Amino acid sequence: MNPKDSDTLSDVAGDPAPTPHATAEQVEAALKDTKLAQILYHDWEAESYDDKWSISYDKRCVDYARNLFDATVPPEELRELPYDRALELGCGSGFFLLNLIQAGVARRGSVTDLSPGMVKVATRNGQNLGLDIDGRVADAEGVPYEDDTFDLVVGHAVLHHIPDVEKSLREVVRVLKPGGRFVFAGEPTSVGNTYARSLSTLTWRVATNATKIPGLEGWRRPQAELDESSRAAALEAVVDLHTFDPDDLERMARSAGAVDVSTSTTEFTAAMLGWPLRTFEAAVPPGKLGWGYAKFAFTSWIGLSWIDDNVWRRVVPKGWYYNVMITGVKPS
Ligand SMILES: C[S@@+](CC[C@H](N)C(=O)[O-])C[C@H]1O[C@@H](n2cnc3c(N)ncnc32)[C@H](O)[C@@H]1O
Repeated sequence: MNPKDSDTLSDVAGDPAPTPHATAEQVEAALKDTKLAQILYHDWEAESYDDKWSISYDKRCVDYARNLFDATVPPEELRELPYDRALELGCGSGFFLLNLIQAGVARRGSVTDLSPGMVKVATRNGQNLGLDIDGRVADAEGVPYEDDTFDLVVGHAVLHHIPDVEKSLREVVRVLKPGGRFVFAGEPTSVGNTYARSLSTLTWRVATNATKIPGLEGWRRPQAELDESSRAAALEAVVDLHTFDPDDLERMARSAGAVDVSTSTTEFTAAMLGWPLRTFEAAVPPGKLGWGYAKFAFTSWIGLSWIDDNVWRRVVPKGWYYNVMITGVKPS
């Protein structure tokens, strides 16, 4: 579905308005329409997305975004920063590009997403940070910008939602200026997705059943919220379309017209910890776990990420890590 076809009223500059509370009928229709599912699912979570994923726009996430960028682009290929004009596809609340701009990777940017709710949040976040950004509802399979417009195109955790990934990469190459670079990070590998999903499903079952036990009711979220989460989870199965083998992803980018293509991967044991922890956080009432838990979760994840990068890296195959990143260049 084209977001312009939505029957919701226009919000800003001709973009459709968000649909934060999908009805059962809309969810039913979305089960057969992946793009409608993307809009409903991501509109539903837009306003709480930063909290859900512990996204911030301070040093913690600025460094995280910059580290992802540096780990993706081979150091010998990194040109002088900042890039002038950047585009983000599937920006969500703006985590990647807003933090990359703050990290000095780009000077100004356009945040785009299929979900009007996400564009609204990302634009608001960028404006609150005083950054030179604009926002637009856009489908990554048909990017509404002229050829040769951007110096840099980025995305985080978006490619696996796009039905025709190669078509979208062709669009990326088209809107890049000759010599311009793209960087996509946070995509699930096929192996990583298998263990992450299994651990998450198990955690959700244990948490939602354990909190039925007398004495643990205080840890149970209200049934209406759990029902809403379950409806969203039904959509999640429709919005998550792909997992990737790094070599296949490279081949796709080359056949989309990119050169100097390379992939790298991150998070092995860190993902085995991170996914159950995030699922547990979603299963219990917001704020219940407190600051001590948040600190434990973050430092454990940082520690395991270090071990993944410095120890497991020597023996574990690249494709077993959870996240794959890809970069490439438009031929000059
Ligand atoms: C998992 S979220 C990631 C958001 C953000 N990049 C981040 O890492 O926090 C995926 C985002 O991709 C968007 N999306 C899904 N399909 C899309 C498409 N065809 N074109 C553009 N954006 C899309 C969703 O609306 C959602 O905001």
